[in-house]
Amino acid sequence: MVISFISRKGGTGKTTNVMHLATTLSSQKKRVVVIETDTNYTLTTLRKMELFKGKKTEKDAPFPILGSTDEVITDELNKLKKSKKYDYILVDSAGKTTDEAIRKLCLASDLVVVPTSLSQNDLLVAYQTIQDLKPAKEINKKLKIAILPNRIHNRTNPKTVENALSNLEVAIIPTFVVNKNKMAEFSTLNSTGEYQEIAENIVSLLK
Ligand SMILES: Nc1ncnc2c1ncn2[C@@H]1O[C@H](COP(=O)(O)OP(=O)(O)OP(=O)(O)O)[C@@H](O)[C@H]1O
Ligand SMILES: [Mg+2]
Repeated sequence: MVISFISRKGGTGKTTNVMHLATTLSSQKKRVVVIETDTNYTLTTLRKMELFKGKKTEKDAPFPILGSTDEVITDELNKLKKSKKYDYILVDSAGKTTDEAIRKLCLASDLVVVPTSLSQNDLLVAYQTIQDLKPAKEINKKLKIAILPNRIHNRTNPKTVENALSNLEVAIIPTFVVNKNKMAEFSTLNSTGEYQEIAENIVSLLK
């Protein structure tokens, strides 16, 4: 299964949520691989730093993090899918990416997750992202698209979240990621127990 995190704007929470999802699924003994198409290779670097700090090597890592680019991502995804080595292939796409790259990624994905906060600006970007993704559903009929409410104040009523997102005309993951430092400070090795329910809600969309 390929789950891609996409948005037309930077800083919506793609990288943060990909990493929480990856460490959580991996802690549940699922075979996970993460691919980042951001050519800054943030996650690859973070992983190296964390391993170094813990006096560990790549062999000790619970799952691989691979770097890719918009140009070759489709081929790489197809190869990984064929190899059947992984239960979940998670893609952290770059904030600055082209329409063409988004389209190609959608065609190779089973689920696209669009994180957004409830700020007016983020909601507009999420709406635009969803409209841009929709045509891919006509070609990739099995594609699912869902909004992940991110950076939500922890006392927010779920109904408020639902209402704010209801006119995006797309599935909404029925849980939200609270805005707090513990969420921001993710690890590339260890999971946060708090993310378990969110992870369950994300992967259950694939059933
Ligand atoms: N739930 C959250 N709670 C607190 N901080 C968060 C949360 N989600 C994301 N952030 C913070 O928001 C910023 C952007 O998050 P992140 O890097 O995950 O976004 P991104 O979509 O991957 O950005 P880019 O498009 O630039 O790659 C980071 O500083 C991150 O720590
Ligand atoms: Mg990112």
